[in-house]
Amino acid sequence: MDVFEAIYARRSVRKYKKGAPVAKESIQKLLDAAMHAPSAVNSRPWEFYCSDKEEVKSALMAAHPACRMLETASWAIVVCGRPDLQPRHNYWPQDCGAAVENILLAAKGLGLGACWCGCYPTQPRTDEVKKVIGCDGVPVAIVAVGVPDEDPPAKGFYDVERVHFL
Ligand SMILES: Cc1cc2nc3c(=O)[nH]c(=O)nc-3n(C[C@H](O)[C@H](O)[C@H](O)COP(=O)(O)O)c2cc1C
Repeated sequence: MDVFEAIYARRSVRKYKKGAPVAKESIQKLLDAAMHAPSAVNSRPWEFYCSDKEEVKSALMAAHPACRMLETASWAIVVCGRPDLQPRHNYWPQDCGAAVENILLAAKGLGLGACWCGCYPTQPRTDEVKKVIGCDGVPVAIVAVGVPDEDPPAKGFYDVERVHFL
């Protein structure tokens, strides 16, 4: 898929075909895309916790008030920042955001749907998600992944008011 096609066709998908299999190999492709994202001083301050287990997805839904789409999603990927891997800078949230966007675009390229559910810096969800997955780092986002069962309209658009050529 052409990069512009993926950018324009990507949507936040919140309804998936429940129980539709998404192979672990597909998730590994998404993580490969994630880890090709740029990061400050190439510190790669991220970790990824992935699960297709209903009990883990349910616990994440209980920890995060806006990720109900995990009810039908096949996988949850929690993208965690590792500030300790970037001691002289504080760009790890942006770096993790770049990784999340790569996951969303790669999912589109594989014909999958995905939705970014923000964690850090919102509390208490960040700490609650951390408890569920038992990570050392900071949960930045939960990404729901599954086979789409909806085709939401585009929300992105070119807004000339936000553009300033100096
Ligand atoms: C930082 C961030 C946090 C978000 N958190 C949530 C969330 O918790 N739950 C959710 O359903 N969508 C969440 N979204 C998705 C946005 O609502 C969505 O991207 C926006 O409405 C535009 O729609 P689109 O992605 O289909 O273009 C989040 C997006 C970003 C970038």
